[in-house]
Amino acid sequence: MNLIVCVSRNWGIGKNNELLFHIPDDLKQFKALTTGKVVVMGHNTLKSLPGGKPLPNRTNIVLSRNPNLKIEGATVCNSVQDVLIEVSDRLQSDVFIIGGEAIYKMFLPYCRRALITRVDAAPEADVFFPDLLEQPQWKIRQESNFMECEGLSYQYVEYVNES
Ligand SMILES: NC(=O)c1ccc[n+]([C@@H]2O[C@H](COP(=O)([O-])OP(=O)(O)OC[C@H]3O[C@@H](n4cnc5c(N)ncnc54)[C@H](OP(=O)(O)O)[C@@H]3O)[C@@H](O)[C@H]2O)c1
Repeated sequence: MNLIVCVSRNWGIGKNNELLFHIPDDLKQFKALTTGKVVVMGHNTLKSLPGGKPLPNRTNIVLSRNPNLKIEGATVCNSVQDVLIEVSDRLQSDVFIIGGEAIYKMFLPYCRRALITRVDAAPEADVFFPDLLEQPQWKIRQESNFMECEGLSYQYVEYVNES
């Protein structure tokens, strides 16, 4: 299982149920990596997507505690265990945890690879990703050079979970 996230300098990921950054090239990269694959997200993240709708051309799984929730174009799961069962027939490298804060925290131990876009800025945030520098099992496998987009400097960092 993979996770994919865009973080600020201090691991902020969002504010007021929106992303902190809009980096078109990063969104293209996200689309290229996840198209045709499984994306797992929390209900708040679904609501934050355009039109509050699942992402096209992907198998969408949405976490909610509401057992009666139905979402057109997505499978609703009520627990981590439900998700693990739901994706058990898929290649684990084809499964992407795509946020937000609650869902990253719950699935971090199940992920082998973390694809992190690190933006060199620190706007105010109200949701955060766990600081991987404090988790020694997570090691950096590769990092890109810094790139610039619309005045923001960012890089791709791939971490692997060696636990
Ligand atoms: N920077 C990035 O890459 C990135 C990526 C994704 C999201 N984000 C940001 O993250 C923020 C959203 O994060 P968030 O933490 O507020 O919300 P979230 O993780 O997207 O969703 C939280 C919801 O998931 C459900 N949930 C949580 N724990 C659960 C459990 N144990 N079992 C079943 N369902 C559970 C609940 O839905 P119900 O209320 O329906 O029960 C809960 O309200 C937004 O600002 C968004 O823009 C950033």
